Amino acid sequence: MWSDARLCYGGDYNPEQWPARVWAEDVALMRRARVNLVTVGVFAWSRLEPAPGRYTFDWLDQVLDLLHGGGIRVALATPTASPPPWFSLAHPGALPVTADGVRLHHGSRDTYCAATPAYREAALRIAGALADRYAHHPALALWHVHNEYGTTCHCEHTARAYRRWLADRHGDLATLNDAWTTSFWSQHYSDWAQISTPRATQYLANPGQLLDFRRFWSDTLLAAYAEQRDLLRAANPAIPVTTNYVLGDWVPVDHARWAGEVDLVAVDHYPSAVDVGAEEQTALVGDLARGWARHAAARRHATATAAGDPPAAPDRGAPARPDPAPTWLLTESAPNQIHTTGRMHTKEPGRMLRHSLAHVARGSHGAMFFQWRAPAGGAERFHSALVPHAGPDSRVFREAVDLGAALERLTEIRGTVEASVALAVDAASGWALRHPGLPSTRLDHHDEVAAAHRALWHAGYGCDVVVPGDPLDGYRLLVLPALYLVSDATTGWVREHVQRGGHLLATYLSGAADEHARVRLGGYPGALRDVLGVRAEEFHPLADGDHVRLADGGTGRIWAETLHLAGADVVTSYAGGLLDGRPAVTRHRSGAGTAWYVSTRPDDDTYRRLLDRAAQAAGATPVHPDAPAGIEAVRRRGDGVSWLFLFNHTDRDRRVPARGAELLTGVRIDEAVTLPPGGVAVLRERTG
Ligand code: GAL
Repeated sequence: MWSDARLCYGGDYNPEQWPARVWAEDVALMRRARVNLVTVGVFAWSRLEPAPGRYTFDWLDQVLDLLHGGGIRVALATPTASPPPWFSLAHPGALPVTADGVRLHHGSRDTYCAATPAYREAALRIAGALADRYAHHPALALWHVHNEYGTTCHCEHTARAYRRWLADRHGDLATLNDAWTTSFWSQHYSDWAQISTPRATQYLANPGQLLDFRRFWSDTLLAAYAEQRDLLRAANPAIPVTTNYVLGDWVPVDHARWAGEVDLVAVDHYPSAVDVGAEEQTALVGDLARGWARHAAARRHATATAAGDPPAAPDRGAPARPDPAPTWLLTESAPNQIHTTGRMHTKEPGRMLRHSLAHVARGSHGAMFFQWRAPAGGAERFHSALVPHAGPDSRVFREAVDLGAALERLTEIRGTVEASVALAVDAASGWALRHPGLPSTRLDHHDEVAAAHRALWHAGYGCDVVVPGDPLDGYRLLVLPALYLVSDATTGWVREHVQRGGHLLATYLSGAADEHARVRLGGYPGALRDVLGVRAEEFHPLADGDHVRLADGGTGRIWAETLHLAGADVVTSYAGGLLDGRPAVTRHRSGAGTAWYVSTRPDDDTYRRLLDRAAQAAGATPVHPDAPAGIEAVRRRGDGVSWLFLFNHTDRDRRVPARGAELLTGVRIDEAVTLPPGGVAVLRERTG
């Protein structure tokens, strides 16, 4: 097992940046803070292989032995995100090339092209050398491959690999020409050799070419990961393998698809907001990570069932359900400063604990940080650390010690996270809405996901992120936030949910295009018109700062539509302006279910009220209906027991009705718990 009974606690540990005399102090401090897992060697390639094929493992031997002696387990990294200078000198053709054709140079990290054979071979060699030496080391708990896969390149190796990938995906050129609509602007391809990566070009690039380039990189990076994983697994099948996800709309990685290839979904999270926005982002990322883990579990279950494999619980005589609570892990977060535009914002006392427990509440099997000790030099010398520049005699280290103790008190927590709403997320829709040539530059699937999640979070509903095609049993409401690319299979998935009595709320642009980013004709929202009972004839993107008013007092931004009813009823209409009196939000009874359509982006308050209404109509209930405003409640359920996490996001004391044993203080709560500003409580509610 990669984790012992305890929740994981620790972070990136870079002993190669320190003289050996510091290591013993590190282990002593880790023990004081109850650190139990550290990620070692992430960027240590040049210290492990100072010259091609010459390995210097002695320092790592000592470090792993020291950690093992201190009872601290190790996630051992392959250092392939940072090739050494000798590699780049020997293989200049493996340095990455930008879309403008500029070759980047050594001097930072990630200076490789993952489609280049020389890089892939060198990466496998160092991973293989580490596997040979450490696959059976007693400290080894987990392999951490690479770091935050997410790079792209436009070199000739990439172009060749892209063509091969395209041939594989489309089969023949006629199919590719059709998918990319190459009849537009004389782009018809008559030979595969004519196709290049979407390099900088004169004017708007082809959307199909751009979209497939993202998909290609997701698959190429996945192949680079998988070949390291297979080699590590072969060395010792008992040690699980993962890689840490980086989030951001620039990342060409389909995290849901990758989740099926890792033994543990591992996610790094650095909020970019400093106020309550940081808490909203933390909640969203926790739900995303759990969603990817659940997606992978559902896929594994479906594959096993289709193959007729024996059920995981043979005594029950029926195929086991997919694991409802697969583990994931927060692999990186910042102990202190939040990096926001142009400056670093010091996290207020207690925030490190609050953010960590918000992830644990959502299923993370612990809280890990970047980084253990703050270095004196290097590009990230001012990044926060559990042991800051000031040393252990510091607020941050004292909070780190308190966090270690708090996590140990939560060891018993396991089980599912209560959620009655499903929120659909789709990587390709995110990529496609970043393309040039769209009606507005403000269209953004991930922003729409975040807005819907924020509204549900403020309204108090537990929310699972789902990927199109995932099982929807048990959810009262499915939300599609600008789910722009909808294949026929996804259309069927949505339709079946509603026909069977499910509730749906889809926002503008959902279903507008097919999986090749071609607009579905006949009116928006394309594939979903019949389920939603509406037809939008025209769109009206709004300028920054502009809004539309709604008849129920709400407001909308970004987008509005000339909407016709085709079976749906009006929930509210536009008030004033060009669209005065026309439907803005509609509801359609379809099959046994109900489908809402929202043709604008409601402002936060409007959205919260709307989703609350749709969720209530669907029979969903907030996690803690009696919680006062500003209190976040998350519930996890195990066998005969549940745990209620409460977070006070206000600047006042808040009394929250609750009963049970409060695990952080050990106090028994009979009626209500009083939380100070920023405070957290975790209650064991009942035992069976
Ligand atoms: C992560 C990365 C770390 C470190 C950190 C700084 O994305 O994996 O190596 O750079 O960001 O916030």
